[in-house]
Amino acid sequence: MFLSLTLRYNDPMQNTIRPTHVEVNLDHLCANLKAIKAKTAPAKVMIIIKANAYGHGMEAVAHHLAPHADYIGVAVLEEGILLRKKGIQTPILVLGGIWEEQIPEFIKYNLTLTASSVERLQQIDRAAEMLEKKAIVHLKFDTGMERIGVHYYTAHTLQEAALGCKHLITEGIYSHFANSDAENLDHARLQLERFNEVLDFYPKHSLPYPALRHIANSGAILQLPEATFDMVRPGIMLYGVYPSDEVQRTVNLTPALSWKSKVVYFKVTQPNHPVSYGSIWQSDENTRVVTIPVGYGDGYFRTMSNKAKVIIRGIKVPQVGRICMDQMVANLGANGSGYNGDEVILIGKQENERITAEDLAHWAGTIPYEILTNINTRVPRVYIKTDA
Ligand SMILES: Cc1ncc(COP(=O)(O)O)c(C=O)c1O
Repeated sequence: MFLSLTLRYNDPMQNTIRPTHVEVNLDHLCANLKAIKAKTAPAKVMIIIKANAYGHGMEAVAHHLAPHADYIGVAVLEEGILLRKKGIQTPILVLGGIWEEQIPEFIKYNLTLTASSVERLQQIDRAAEMLEKKAIVHLKFDTGMERIGVHYYTAHTLQEAALGCKHLITEGIYSHFANSDAENLDHARLQLERFNEVLDFYPKHSLPYPALRHIANSGAILQLPEATFDMVRPGIMLYGVYPSDEVQRTVNLTPALSWKSKVVYFKVTQPNHPVSYGSIWQSDENTRVVTIPVGYGDGYFRTMSNKAKVIIRGIKVPQVGRICMDQMVANLGANGSGYNGDEVILIGKQENERITAEDLAHWAGTIPYEILTNINTRVPRVYIKTDA
C-alpha cells in the first residue's frame, strides 16, 4: 500500500493540481543507495544531487537521503546555499569551478570548495584569512578529462601550494573519469593509474593522504572496484538508472522516477487530416487519437516526435505528429481503447508495460541524464513512500 504525499518545494507551479506530474519513489532511492553501499563499503558515499537531483527534486532528495549519506555533491554554489537554507547540515562539496568573489559565500555557508588551480587555492586561503576562518577544500586533478583541475603531470604544484596554505583544511583530493561507463575501460584504467601517481606524492614526502580520496562515479562503482578509495560519488545510479547501455550491471537498481499525465481530449481522425504542426503524420484509416497535455515545454523533447511511445490502458501506443510546446497526440489505433481522463505513462510502468528514461534517450538521440535533468520545474513532483 502506498502513501502519497505532495511536497511543495520552492516553486509556485508545485501548488497546482496539474494531472501531468513526476512521481518519485523515495524508497527506491533509499534502496539504490543501500545497494551502492553494499558494493563499496567501507567507503563513504557522496550523493550527487546537482541539477535538481537529476530532475527528481533536489530539496526532497536531500532531506530523504542526507541522513544516510556522508557527503553531498552539487555543481554550483547556489545549489549548496539552497540546501543550507533548507536546513541540510551534511558536508557539501561544490564540484564546479569557482570565482574569487564567490569564496566568502562558500565560507559563510560552510561549503567545501573545489581547488582546481594554484591561483584559486591561494585566493581561498587569502579569503579565509580575512574572515578568520578555515576553508575546507578538495584538490581537483585532471587525469584525462581536460576539464577543470590541475594536470596529473604538474600535480605537485597544487599539492605543494596546499601545504603552504595556513587557512585551509585540505580534506580531500579528487579526479573525474571520462569513460568509466564504457565497455572498453582502457582510458579509465589509465586515468586511475595517473590518479594513483598523483597520490604517491604523499607517501613520497612522508605525509598522510588527505582524508578523502575520491574518483568513482556510477560507471566506476559498477565496473572498477579498484577505484573506490575513501569515498564514491554516485549520481545516476542513485536514481535507479545505469549510466550507459554497455556498462556491467553489477548492482541491482530500481528506477525512482515515473512521469505521468492524463488524456485531455479524445477524437477520431480521418485519412488526409494530418496531425499537429508541420503535418508530418497522418493516418491512412479512421483512427482514435488522444491529446496529452505534455510537450517540449515540460522537457518532453520535440526530437522524439513520431518515435516516442506512451502507455495507455496497459498498452504501448505511438506518439504521432510533432510534439508541441504543451501538448502532443498519441494514436490508439482504429480499434484502440482509451478516453478522456485515462492515465498516460511517459516514463514508468502500467500493468505489464514499462517505458524507461533509457527508452526516451534512444528516441531523442541522447542519454538518460539529459532526459531526467530536462523535466521542467513546471511539472509538479510528487513523493511516494511505502506505508510501513
Ligand atoms: C565530478 C562528478 N562526480 C560524480 C558525478 C556523478 O556521475 P554519475 O551520474 O555518472 O554517477 C558527476 C556527474 O556528472 C560529476 O561531475
